[in-house]
Amino acid sequence: MNPYGSMRSHGAGTLRADHTDETVTLAGWVSRRRDHGGVAFLDLRDASGTCQVVADPSASDALAAAHEVRPEWVLQISGTVRRRPQGMENPSLDTGEVEVAASSVTVLSPAETPPFPLEGSVEADETLRVRHRYLDLRREAPARALRLRARITSLIRRVMESHGFLDVETPMLTRSTPEGARDFLVPTRAGDGVAYALPQSPQLFKQLLVVAGVERYYQLARCFRDEDLRADRQPEFTQLDVEAAFIDEEDLFALFEDLFSTLWREILDVELPTPFPRLPYEEAMRRFGTDKPDTRFGLELVDLGDALADTEVGVFRGALDAGGVVVAVTLPGGGALTRKQLDDWVAWAKGRRAKGLAWGVVEAGEDGEDGLTLRSPLAKYMRAEEIAGVIEATGAAEGDLVLFGAGPTGFTRELMGALRVALAQDQGLIGPGSPAEDQWDFLWITDWPLFEWNPDEARWDPLHHPFTAPREQDLDRLRDDPGAVAARGYDLVLNGTELGGGSIRIHHPGVQQQVFDVLGITPEEADEKFGFLLQGLSHGAPPHGGIAFGLDRLVMLMAGAASIRDVIAFPKLARGYDPMTDAPARVDDAQLREVGLRRLPPQ
Ligand code: AMO
Repeated sequence: MNPYGSMRSHGAGTLRADHTDETVTLAGWVSRRRDHGGVAFLDLRDASGTCQVVADPSASDALAAAHEVRPEWVLQISGTVRRRPQGMENPSLDTGEVEVAASSVTVLSPAETPPFPLEGSVEADETLRVRHRYLDLRREAPARALRLRARITSLIRRVMESHGFLDVETPMLTRSTPEGARDFLVPTRAGDGVAYALPQSPQLFKQLLVVAGVERYYQLARCFRDEDLRADRQPEFTQLDVEAAFIDEEDLFALFEDLFSTLWREILDVELPTPFPRLPYEEAMRRFGTDKPDTRFGLELVDLGDALADTEVGVFRGALDAGGVVVAVTLPGGGALTRKQLDDWVAWAKGRRAKGLAWGVVEAGEDGEDGLTLRSPLAKYMRAEEIAGVIEATGAAEGDLVLFGAGPTGFTRELMGALRVALAQDQGLIGPGSPAEDQWDFLWITDWPLFEWNPDEARWDPLHHPFTAPREQDLDRLRDDPGAVAARGYDLVLNGTELGGGSIRIHHPGVQQQVFDVLGITPEEADEKFGFLLQGLSHGAPPHGGIAFGLDRLVMLMAGAASIRDVIAFPKLARGYDPMTDAPARVDDAQLREVGLRRLPPQ
């Protein structure tokens, strides 16, 4: 069978010098036209690439037709392949040695003038591009991203199947699946006040599949979460979703180190060092202020609790006395920052609801050891030992800038962690053109606590989800000291992006209820919401665990794209809006009535 379809003999992008003198028929879109009156040059583009077509007076009908065409018209062209005249080759094009001398040009479809240029890398407004995404996807970079995505999913399937995983589909119309986001609801005619929820993930179904004896499940699963959009978040997205019986953490780590090394080797020609490093959650928070640290650069957080134990500096004293922390980030050579730049960083911190950001520049002087001191608005309130202690703890050298955050532990670490990344971007340590551009820092985050205290709601929340198993030896602390219970959970981080997360699960209904108890979910509520899972677990559930990776994020990172929107065929914009279909759209009253809904009167 002709892989290009019966309307053509070759793909435009496949023609080479050894096709010379062959008669070919091509079909595709005009990407460019240069009309010199006597001769017309058309660049004809199809999915395989682009080839130059020449129409001249030797085929007058073809030339007349070529005069008429405009960019993005769809043509069928017949002609003969010939070498381009010497000096006219185009080395930037795969087909650049040849051209097709047209004997006939047939217009299959005319086209309106595109609302934005499709050639080159001129970036048009994103809303305009997404409104006409069928045009945007004709551009080189988005088209390449779609092809890359398909190669990645194809390889994922191959590797997962080579490890014995079975692809199983789970329902889209279901009930709430707890991943901590808001549900999308689907009202139905089935009755008044009932609605399906779209799955936030296939979590409960995959666990029940394992109970069913599907010992190794995987799916490229569509998930739905009604949450605010960001560069790495969409309301609907795809997960590589995995669950397996009779495994432990080590099995999972080894499996996915194999998967990611294979992807990087076969697609990017990069050999990833394995095993990937592991970092306990607590250490990640202490050293990087986040559970998804970017370890491609230093600028690590340093706790100054010891160095400033006896400090009388008000902001530091206040933070420490209130049980909080003083944390430093040191920017090598940052002493060269201007006063205005320092003020901007202070304003940056205040914009994140910090009270402020103190700073000091290490200079030669009397106070500290090794003849170093701090030039800082706070220096006059600091004793010589404190200054020496800060310089020693941070390891700062002459000319370095030390930035201090002081306040409640969680908030301050998070602030300084974000500052660390912002400084790295500002200093060109990461980002386009930086030395870190080709660096791939995979990192497993391990040893998560099972719960975190939610002070606003005065309750414990799960750090992953309520089905994560506590560490065996912590079971008897569940009731009296939930905050000290460690989870059998793990995340995979790549260059500061959370790529995936999962856990070994609870497989005893009794333990599951104990965890629900901590979370304030009564047996009645549990029965109502997750009764089917609890029942499943009571019918012979094997020990099991799993993980899910964000496919869109994976493709974004492999493509070097700035947003997951760039690697999704039809992405949504702010507030989940799709300018192409104009969704979400108003529904009429009759449709609402059918599903038992009524519009509220305007307030
Ligand atoms: P989690 O909620 O961590 O785990 O999701 C797994 C991964 O999915 C990706 N992801 C997203 N990608 C794009 N847009 C979003 N809105 C979005 N939300 C999440 C992230 C994330 O790491 N059921 C568990 C997995 C398990 O325990 O097996 C779950 O869904 O890359």
